[in-house]
Parts: sequence; structure tokens; C-alpha cells
Amino acid sequence: MASKTKRGNQQTDNTAVVLKHRLRDHFIAKTHRCDLCFDLFAGTGLCSKIYSEHFDQVVAVDERRAQLEQFPDLQNCVTYQGDNYKLLPWLMDRYGSPAFVDLDAYGNPDACLQFVLRFCKCPVTIVVTDGTSQARRRAQVTPPAWKMRGVYWSALSIRWQEWPTLIHTHLHDWAEEQGKRVTDWRYVTPLSRAHSQGDPPVYYGAVIQERAE
Ligand SMILES: C[S@@+](CC[C@H](N)C(=O)[O-])C[C@H]1O[C@@H](n2cnc3c(N)ncnc32)[C@H](O)[C@@H]1O
Repeated sequence: MASKTKRGNQQTDNTAVVLKHRLRDHFIAKTHRCDLCFDLFAGTGLCSKIYSEHFDQVVAVDERRAQLEQFPDLQNCVTYQGDNYKLLPWLMDRYGSPAFVDLDAYGNPDACLQFVLRFCKCPVTIVVTDGTSQARRRAQVTPPAWKMRGVYWSALSIRWQEWPTLIHTHLHDWAEEQGKRVTDWRYVTPLSRAHSQGDPPVYYGAVIQERAE
């Protein structure tokens, strides 16, 4: 299942890459251990490359072989092709609990996020891209991880400006359910919505602690 992969020069969809990388630098500096990082929407490895300089071991997952085939050759990074959510229990078993988890999803990252909140040892740092707001413009069911039983949402159900509140409320509530709390929360968005069809993805990070810590 593990694959050491080769390089290429094809681009991946990477909106606001400077913003994303600054957010990652910020949260790497907040991370309590430097042993293990999971990069679960790893794409062509731009973020894994950064992590390989800070963590002893990087575990990168992408469902698309074409993405992994462009990965840089990083000594301390192992790549897996597959659905991250299905692989997560096995990865935790094999490598242990990560200090840092990257969920650069563009779609909805919350199924993996909930798994991390439930099973990862604290403190754990998370950095997330959430593109859920893009999908809400279409007649789409709300993300299954929200457990709203097939409820569809309308484009006007929540304004983009209120997205940080929705994300923080979810994160806070899901952490609480696991006896944990959200610290060092930071949320950033691209400066302009003009480049994007519909709402652009948003970026956030946090350090998750045990409630008593
Ligand atoms: C925005 S790109 C990631 C960019 C990457 N972090 C980088 O810095 O180069 C999102 C990636 O997530 C992958 N992806 C989407 N759903 C996935 C899933 N369920 N499991 C694994 N990978 C997934 C896509 O194939 C895509 O390559």
C-alpha cells in the first residue's frame, strides 16, 4: 500500500497558497511534539514538503494516484493512495497518534476532523481547508458528518460572513463531546471573493487540548 513516488510539474488546485502556507507555519510553531505529522489531503505534496522539514515522520494520503505521482522525494515522508477516512484507523495503529494533522480538503473535511477529535492524543494541532461553502450553492445535502439526516440547504441558509461562526461552533461542540477544548483558534480567508465562482474555501487551524490541560 505504501508508495515512494516520483516528481512532475503539473499544478494542483491551490487557492491562496501563500495564505495557506503562512497558516501552516504559524501552527507548526504551536505544535507540542515534532515526531509525527499526518497530511491527509496531500495532493502533490506542497505541504508535506514543509512538514518534512519540521517533523521526524510525515504520512501523506491522497485518493488520486496522479497527484501522488508528482510528490517530491522526501526521505521522511511515506505516501498512501486511498480514502483518508478509511485509512485513518489503520494509520493510527501503524504510526501512532500524530502531533499535527493537515486536512487541506477543499470539500468538507469534517468526517476526518471528527475522527481526529475523537481518537488523537492531545495536544494535537490541526490545520484545515474547508470548501463546504462552495457546495451549498447547489441543491446539495448537508455534509453527512453533520448528522442532519439528508437535510438539503438553500444558498441563503447561511451567509459566507457567518461561516467562521459555523465552523467554530462545530469544532467547539465536537471537541466538547470528546472532553476536549479548542485553543489557539485562527481563521483566515482569501482577501477577495472575486476570483472564485461562488464562495472560496476558508482556512483555519487550532490546537486541541484535553479539557483539563
Ligand atoms: C487542495 S488539494 C491538496 C493540496 C495539497 N495539500 C498541497 O499542498 O499540495 C486536495 C486533495 O485532496 C484529495 N482528496 C479529496 N478527497 C480525498 C479523500 N477522501 N481521501 C484522500 N484524498 C482526498 C484530492 O485528490 C486532492 O489532491
